[in-house]
Amino acid sequence: MNTRHITINSKADKEGILEVAEILKRGGIVAIPTETVYGLAANALDGAAVAKIFEAKGRPQDNPLIVHISNIEMAKPLVNEFTKSAKDLSDKFWPGPLTMILERTDLVPQEVSAGLNTVAIRYPKNEVAAAIIEASGLPLAAPSANLSGSPSPTTAEHCIKDLDGRVDAIVVSGDCEVGLESTVISLCGTPRLLRPGAVTVNQLREVLGEIEIDSAVLAEPEKNKPVASPGMKYKHYAPKTKVILVESGREEYISYVNSQNHEGVYALCFAEDVMGLEVPTVCYGHSDGSGQAEGLFAALRELDEKGAKIAYAHSPSLEGVGLAVYNRLIRAAAFCTIKL
Ligand code: TXA
Ligand code: MG
Repeated sequence: MNTRHITINSKADKEGILEVAEILKRGGIVAIPTETVYGLAANALDGAAVAKIFEAKGRPQDNPLIVHISNIEMAKPLVNEFTKSAKDLSDKFWPGPLTMILERTDLVPQEVSAGLNTVAIRYPKNEVAAAIIEASGLPLAAPSANLSGSPSPTTAEHCIKDLDGRVDAIVVSGDCEVGLESTVISLCGTPRLLRPGAVTVNQLREVLGEIEIDSAVLAEPEKNKPVASPGMKYKHYAPKTKVILVESGREEYISYVNSQNHEGVYALCFAEDVMGLEVPTVCYGHSDGSGQAEGLFAALRELDEKGAKIAYAHSPSLEGVGLAVYNRLIRAAAFCTIKL
């Protein structure tokens, strides 16, 4: 397939936005920027179009998709009830990096819901994403625009690397501000955090009071047991490099990694660690948490490009957005951790 590259820098690039909207209306699939990660979009109401997403990504069929909207009215036909909790959260965090799971109507095709009686909905903040949804007049189903299993794409180049030749078009736009996928909360029954993101647990609690945290957020889901969010059970975000997560302070981390100084060993570390390390380094942000979310997925891809065999990753603090960084890293490491 010949993949068109369409540059859209802002919502003022009307020609590009209309071109993308036309492709989507005709049942095509297009990688588009959002504030979290790039998404691979299709008309959420067209099961055949959505099926092409699964094929292009190599995504397991039992993993449902998030539906993206550009105003709250678009959500209403898709859900049985836009609940009070949903309204309160949307008032505070939409448009933005928060996905809400609600009971769905029959309008949502089986390909989107993967057989569940719920649907995940998000109103993205990125103005190009919102303009594309608006111009197409369609809710857009969009998972992250990477090959299934590899790190999520935070730049147009990442999408081109993974999906060129597999999709109708890739929108070439700026890098994603947030850098990690949206927070996912289920509002069916007691509110339950399924995937941490830039909207933090404390921010959710300020609106909803107590919320549950699904066990898959911090630990490996048990094999053969149903999981609330199917995506959490797969080995995810994983580069070819074997990642080992090291939970420790700075001094212990540096001396441990230096003791493992063999061919192909890298440190996936904070900028502050570099001085003491004797192995090659790839940095993802700072030890105070800044830059970690934005830098993690690009750093995982960089390890592969450099041919790293093993990377010892310095574990983030679990405070605030750190919980989301940890949740992605522990999956990139296939739950292989060392506590010092
Ligand atoms: O930030 C994001 O959310 C990005 C951008 C493109 O919007 N999208 C994204 O989609 O991360 P994806 O498909 O890579 O991750 C969606 C996650 C998966 O873990 C999936 O299992 C879960 O949300 N999910 C989707 N619908 C669900 C549902 N009805 N019930 C439970 N989990 C659901
Ligand atoms: Mg994904």
